[in-house]
Amino acid sequence: MALFNFEKDSYLGRVREVDTRKVTLEVENDEDLQKAQVGQLAALQCPSGVYAWLIGIIDKVMRSIAISKENPFKDVEYIENEQLLDTREETTINTVRLTLVGTVKYSSKYEKYIFSRALHRVPCINVECFVLLHNNLQLFMSLISEAAKGEHALELGKYALDSNAIAYLDGNKFFQRHAALLGSTGSGKSWTVATILENASKLPSANLVVFDLHGEYNKLSYARHLRVPGPEDLGKTQEGLIYLPYWLLNAEELQAIFIDRSEFSAHNQVMVFQDAVIDDKKRFLIEQGKEDILKAFTLDSPIPFSIDNVILHIKNLNEEMVQGPKGPKQGQFFGMFSRLITRIRSKLSDKRYGFLFQAPESEHEYGTMAKIAEKLMDYSKGKSKVKIIDFSEVPSDILPVIIGLVARIIFQVQFWTNDDKRKPIALICDEAHLYMPKKDESNPIEKRAIEAFEKIAKEGRKYGVALVIISQRPADVSPTILSQCNNVVSLRLTNGDDQNTVKKLMPESLSSILDILPVLDVGEALVVGDSILLPSRIIISPPEEKPRSATIDFWDEWSKATGKPDFEMAVENMRKQGRSG
Ligand SMILES: Nc1ncnc2c1ncn2[C@@H]1O[C@H](COP(=O)(O)OP(=O)(O)OP(=O)(O)O)[C@@H](O)[C@H]1O
Ligand SMILES: [Mg+2]
Repeated sequence: MALFNFEKDSYLGRVREVDTRKVTLEVENDEDLQKAQVGQLAALQCPSGVYAWLIGIIDKVMRSIAISKENPFKDVEYIENEQLLDTREETTINTVRLTLVGTVKYSSKYEKYIFSRALHRVPCINVECFVLLHNNLQLFMSLISEAAKGEHALELGKYALDSNAIAYLDGNKFFQRHAALLGSTGSGKSWTVATILENASKLPSANLVVFDLHGEYNKLSYARHLRVPGPEDLGKTQEGLIYLPYWLLNAEELQAIFIDRSEFSAHNQVMVFQDAVIDDKKRFLIEQGKEDILKAFTLDSPIPFSIDNVILHIKNLNEEMVQGPKGPKQGQFFGMFSRLITRIRSKLSDKRYGFLFQAPESEHEYGTMAKIAEKLMDYSKGKSKVKIIDFSEVPSDILPVIIGLVARIIFQVQFWTNDDKRKPIALICDEAHLYMPKKDESNPIEKRAIEAFEKIAKEGRKYGVALVIISQRPADVSPTILSQCNNVVSLRLTNGDDQNTVKKLMPESLSSILDILPVLDVGEALVVGDSILLPSRIIISPPEEKPRSATIDFWDEWSKATGKPDFEMAVENMRKQGRSG
């Protein structure tokens, strides 16, 4: 039985031009032309028979005035040429352009119609084309929806074309090769994240880590909440706090924090600092009776060391006097490291960096890293499937290094997990432009983070580490990372640079569909990629538990009666670096 049943009222026109994916239709009259709307779906009979149709998305509807019978397809601009004006014989030409997106075909194997993204055949000239409306549209959308519904379905919302059809993404494909979730501020990114998290949290051993920069997700009831401690929490050891002791940083990251590249003695600083760190890590291993590790040990091995010992060593070199021919003289490095020592000391005593340098004793043990990995990556206990890490109290100057560090720890632990024990994990990177910016504009601290994420973007697939890159400024996000994303969920994007960035991520043939990006509604997205059968406009379902990201209604707030504002409290919070009081 034929799937579609087209009446006269959905007839659009005949194929005039075919260019692999692009098809141009000749539309006879204005009435037919009015049926076509950009973004709508249309069907063409396949050359292979009555049980197959090619499906296309309408991307251009044109009514042009041709200037001569001999040359009917030249465009209106010609009229501006006055000579031609005199000789023209005006006729109108109605054209609709489609981008083909797939084939609907009867499968005798499954005994039903299926949609595939493959284009086995291109249409022939003069084939009739119909818009998918009413029943036919519903039939098609339910076909798509049913096909995607399988076991791996991630329910995102409804199709804008047919609000009865539920839009499912293939949850495997969505995470397998990274995804990007983009949209201007207030377009609905955080809500979309919450919808995805909510879905995932229903699976028995989902494993997702959310980098939350504003404490937006800290109320979600199904998640484990971790917080990088702020100045007020120092010394506390409760479950929800996650200290990141300095010895977890690798050499490059430590240098990015401590060493000022512009200083004359930077080179010596690096050398002396590294030597001192290696020596102290060795001391630690020997004290712990872990001599076997010494063989494979490098500067970057995550092994606790004492930063005080390192300072002491540098201080000694800085003050060293050696025996010369005419009595004691200043040593090779005398006075060279005074600034370095001051810089390290000031970082060490700065409470904002407390989560790195003032972690409790218990965070400097041999087993600490495994405990940190468990906090970040465990999915077996209670609410541990979704882990939300609140970075809102991390000072912005080292935020990229710290997030990069967490991502690197997760990737490395995953990398070194035996194949049969490995469970895939997804990193949800909110506000990604802040810590994976375009490289040419990045400072040493940002470079470290970008390296960590680029490595995951390139190699994560093999080890089951997925990135979901979320940003309101895609144009500012590292293109190397963004271009690895095989699925793009784009909400409203108003800025031209950002739109162009998204266009570059999508296949050429779809570029005209992307013109709707600036006119999408809040919570409405264009989804493209291998996780969805058809590039589609989707109305994303709001999550049951909303993130704390409410847009403030200025006028409403201003319309309320006044109370006495409490600025003392705000200033006090600023001093304490915490809003808890
Ligand atoms: N799917 C949706 N359905 C209905 N309303 C929505 C939806 N998504 C978002 N909204 C509305 O838009 C507001 C802003 O959404 P959200 O916080 O997700 O934006 P955002 O893109 O994360 O912004 P920012 O870039 O500033 O973080 C929400 O408070 C909500 O009122
Ligand atoms: Mg947000």
